[in-house]
Amino acid sequence: MRKVIVTIIVSVTLIQLTAQQNIDEKVNELVSRLTLQEKIELLGGTGFDSKPVERLGIPAIKMADGPLGIRWGNATAFPATIALGATWDKQLAYNVGKGIAKEVRDKGRDMLLAPCVNLVRTPHGGRNFESYGEDPVLTAVLSTSYIKGVQSEDVLACIKHYAVNNQEYKRMTIDAVIDERVLREIYLPAFKSGVQNGNVATVMSAYNVLNGTYCSENDFLLNTILKNDWGFDGFVVSDWGAVHSTLGTAKYGVDIEMPNGKYLNETVTELVENGDVDQEIINDKVRRLIKVAMRFGFFDDRSYQSKEDPYDANKKLAYDAAAAGIVLLKNTNSILPINVDEVKTIALIGPNAAVNRAGGGGSSRVNYSYSVSPFDAFMSKYGDKLKIISEPGVRSKTELNIIPSQYLKTEFNGEIVSGFTGQYYNNKNLEGDPELVRVDEKIDFKWVAGGPAESIGVDNFSVRWKGKLIPETSGKFELGVASDDGVRLFINGEKVIDEWIDRAVAYNGYALALESGKEYNIIIEYYENGGAAEVGFGWIKADSQLLDKAVAAAKAADVVVVFAGLSEHYESEGYDRPDLTLPEDQLKLLAALDQLGKEHVLVINNGGQLVMPEVYANADAVLEAWFPGQEGGNAIADILTGVVNPSGKLPYTIGKKWQDYSSYDYYPEENDQIFYKDGLFIGYRHFDKNEIEADFNFGFGLSYTQFKIDDVKLSASKISSEADQLTVTCKLTNTGDVAGAEVIQLYTAYENPKVVRPEKDLKKFEKVYLEPGETRVVELSVIPSDLAYYSIEKRSWVTDNGKYYILLGSSSREQDLVQRVFEIDLK
Ligand code: BGC
Repeated sequence: MRKVIVTIIVSVTLIQLTAQQNIDEKVNELVSRLTLQEKIELLGGTGFDSKPVERLGIPAIKMADGPLGIRWGNATAFPATIALGATWDKQLAYNVGKGIAKEVRDKGRDMLLAPCVNLVRTPHGGRNFESYGEDPVLTAVLSTSYIKGVQSEDVLACIKHYAVNNQEYKRMTIDAVIDERVLREIYLPAFKSGVQNGNVATVMSAYNVLNGTYCSENDFLLNTILKNDWGFDGFVVSDWGAVHSTLGTAKYGVDIEMPNGKYLNETVTELVENGDVDQEIINDKVRRLIKVAMRFGFFDDRSYQSKEDPYDANKKLAYDAAAAGIVLLKNTNSILPINVDEVKTIALIGPNAAVNRAGGGGSSRVNYSYSVSPFDAFMSKYGDKLKIISEPGVRSKTELNIIPSQYLKTEFNGEIVSGFTGQYYNNKNLEGDPELVRVDEKIDFKWVAGGPAESIGVDNFSVRWKGKLIPETSGKFELGVASDDGVRLFINGEKVIDEWIDRAVAYNGYALALESGKEYNIIIEYYENGGAAEVGFGWIKADSQLLDKAVAAAKAADVVVVFAGLSEHYESEGYDRPDLTLPEDQLKLLAALDQLGKEHVLVINNGGQLVMPEVYANADAVLEAWFPGQEGGNAIADILTGVVNPSGKLPYTIGKKWQDYSSYDYYPEENDQIFYKDGLFIGYRHFDKNEIEADFNFGFGLSYTQFKIDDVKLSASKISSEADQLTVTCKLTNTGDVAGAEVIQLYTAYENPKVVRPEKDLKKFEKVYLEPGETRVVELSVIPSDLAYYSIEKRSWVTDNGKYYILLGSSSREQDLVQRVFEIDLK
């Protein structure tokens, strides 16, 4: 029997080797037929595509943004990655990756610029919502599952942003100064797992500098670690505009420069010809690109015929992911779930009640075709049974209500028509004669997959809109523009907004009193540099009654749910959050509601931590709903009413104040550097080490049922060989009377470690669904290498002999963990 197995293994390996050799031979053969100029052309993209070589049938690889869904035309908006992190559910992460990839295929794209695996280090980070949280293992496991899901549909995943891109502040230039051990143990494991366990096709190099060298030309990051240590055989794309040199980038890093080959296409030829860059380096880059293309079937028929409508199937998946990620942080006196059979009037208060905050801002923003707010969901589920009142209480000042064309007038070809006249220029500075002049009915543009017109292109253009604004009512208004990139607004000849800079989409407003029927001369100037392009012109009318109406609604209701939090206007790529609590006006609304002395449930939307202990303390129940994607309202309503039992767990620690966080002493910068002196101690590792009491711990989340963990057993008390596995089992019972899911979390701790080590680290986890009364045996295992640290001296991973602890439980809180001891004694 044994012989047969050995023979089979040997032949399978041989077949694999031969297949590998075949691919390598084919790739080499193709590379040998390319001219140097053709090879160099391949090193730069064209917007969101790589370049084809038609002569040899080498196709373009068509990319599109993620990770919350595909940003290309209308698509499904899934919950933000942080919500996926909070599901702690590997299968769901796989399914979401696969679901998105089906839409990628349907749209004829090939590569998804996702997942984002940068950790939440500082709560200020503008892109925290695109991260899986603060822990390297949670991030690695879930993002690798997502990658496998994406690639199961023959779509290339792109793990980003490599590496140590943990803040938006000065993201293009900040130098992250970090020790190698910290880099390898905390910030790189997800990338490593993506490469080694997920076989990810591509990696995106980050904008920032790492230890003095830009990530896109960082020999140590890209060659030493990624390509040599980890054996990555896919290709590296630069982040959009992250390349700063020709020589360094050609030699040390990136294989394809995006969005165009500003450096790699232009001057590389000269460098190869004069011997500064060995042609073999160029061959390697091209080989990587072609090899991935072969692996993903680009030389075969890639036409796509899906059996089902992916957008339809993804509605349920987006809902499931949103529901599974919502975290119940507090539930005093079991005020939740709301019993809809007993309640008559329910008040949904706050700026996020009737608006679904699907995602954060920037390149991850999906153009969804519908989005369900909590109010929509309550109305459709209970509208005929309950009295449902919704009052925003405050108007979020960054809300952009696009001004409809009936209020805009312009003279065009001698006639007065609705809209503004747009003059479109083929440069970024409104120079020369416009290439195109037309009337735009309103200013509300999101150009993702194409520019305003073929003659204008997708990047490097500018527009000047002119016309008159004629309001119908008088009162205090705010006029606002949201744009990616630069914008200026003139009212009656006065420049009131001037943001002529490259930026991810951001909002600026200007308050003024408008008079009904009066004409206001408006000029909007806008330019687009690269990547996505958008611009909108809107207004908000101030309503002094808003707060009073919300308080009155709360007074009249049996149940009050407040929907507070952030939106894509507060949390976005391109900038960090200046403060960590709710916007001022929302705090005023909560204070006014508190004065009523009525019980209330608080539902929050956000990506990074909202640090606000008093607000949490004043609420009777708190639901962390994240940015929940297009199905957010349905998921929130079902959790609030108990149709779904909450099972999310926090993927990061919520502290009581900003000073509690590990990055506090170093963020945002010091002379253009950000020091990672908190070392291994980010997130709960820092709270543990410094004995800081968190408001809500990493891994924490309540349920409407109760679980019991007992019978925690280890398969051995000692591990004596690298290959040995320690199996940890426990019995998990749902002792309550509703079905639900619990996440069993396994941490390890070290007794008298020889080197500095965190007090405990998450190593394994499993989400388990149980019917009421059901018991399941849960099994998790660790091997010695799971307990290793990176030794800079030895330049390798080391597991020391000694005494270790398994800490098993339902959160990282001390009281939720059962401790067992074991020994490692490797010869
Ligand atoms: C972002 C990337 C994104 C790229 C393309 C960059 O600004 O950092 O995450 O994939 O733009 O839109």
